[in-house]
Amino acid sequence: MKRDIVSVLDMENDFEDFVREGIELKKRFKKGEINNTLAGKTLAMIFEKPSTRTRVSFETAMTQLGGHAIYLSPRDMQMGRGETVADTARVLSRMVDGILYRAFDNKNVKELAKYSTVSVINGLDDLEHPTQMVADFMTVLEHKGKFRGLKMSYIGDGNNTCNSLMLSAALLGIDFYVATPKGFEPMDEFVKKAKSIAKKNKCSITVTNDPVEAARDADVIYTDVWVSMGQEKEGEEKEKKFKAFQINGKLVSHAKKDYIFMHCLPAHRGLEVTDEVADSKNSVIFDEAENRLHAEKIILLKTIGNL
Ligand code: CP
Ligand code: NVA
Repeated sequence: MKRDIVSVLDMENDFEDFVREGIELKKRFKKGEINNTLAGKTLAMIFEKPSTRTRVSFETAMTQLGGHAIYLSPRDMQMGRGETVADTARVLSRMVDGILYRAFDNKNVKELAKYSTVSVINGLDDLEHPTQMVADFMTVLEHKGKFRGLKMSYIGDGNNTCNSLMLSAALLGIDFYVATPKGFEPMDEFVKKAKSIAKKNKCSITVTNDPVEAARDADVIYTDVWVSMGQEKEGEEKEKKFKAFQINGKLVSHAKKDYIFMHCLPAHRGLEVTDEVADSKNSVIFDEAENRLHAEKIILLKTIGNL
């Protein structure tokens, strides 16, 4: 049966299983265990925007699971010449076993999922970044050993990564803070949904414009670029407004001593984070990047592998 992952909410009932089983797969892989569960299966990967981690991790994950991945750019596809998303979904569904889609517009990811008879995985759009979340919370669990009781703070732009992170934290019972400049808060519908999940899970979601409030006693400090792909025009104006939200030595001095620093990457060093923090002993950004590979494997197994 097909299983789409367009939003973190498509993992609402088993998100923690993705995270824990991702860690298990990683351990088994490190021991040298071979897993050919996806032998003979093909993943089509449509990238409307650039990618290093998402592309390489999914392609490598398919290889390591015995399957194959095809990289597709709209520049080279008929979709770039006006073939509809729906027809693309119908055609690819007759040939491949799953589709990964990095899109500018969430509506197109939903449309592809609607018309596809094989599983569709959102590889980041304007609203969410669900596959990143599995890797991120694997990293949190590996370094902190628990979820409940942690204070996790996202400081920066209320963007796609922030939306998905907030929903995921609520699902796991983490107390989550978002600090953004005024006017850059995450979208209301995501805040409302995260708060309602948090209420059920007896944790909290706090949205503030004060970066120090978020950083104070934090166990995890997370940031992402101030200017996401496709928003380049807003760059200069944003840099001024976001100055106080830079993750630097002064801001992290408010966090717990053993806090961890996370970033989905790519980082714009000197803007949202200084080298001093990104390269500090508290930084786990490359563990986080490595975990993308193992996270993609559990995502692939639970979607096209029907696990
Ligand atoms: N974090 C992430 O999705 O990175 P890429 O844009 O390199 O895929
Ligand atoms: N928010 C960033 C994440 C990149 C992985 C963007 O959308 O460009």
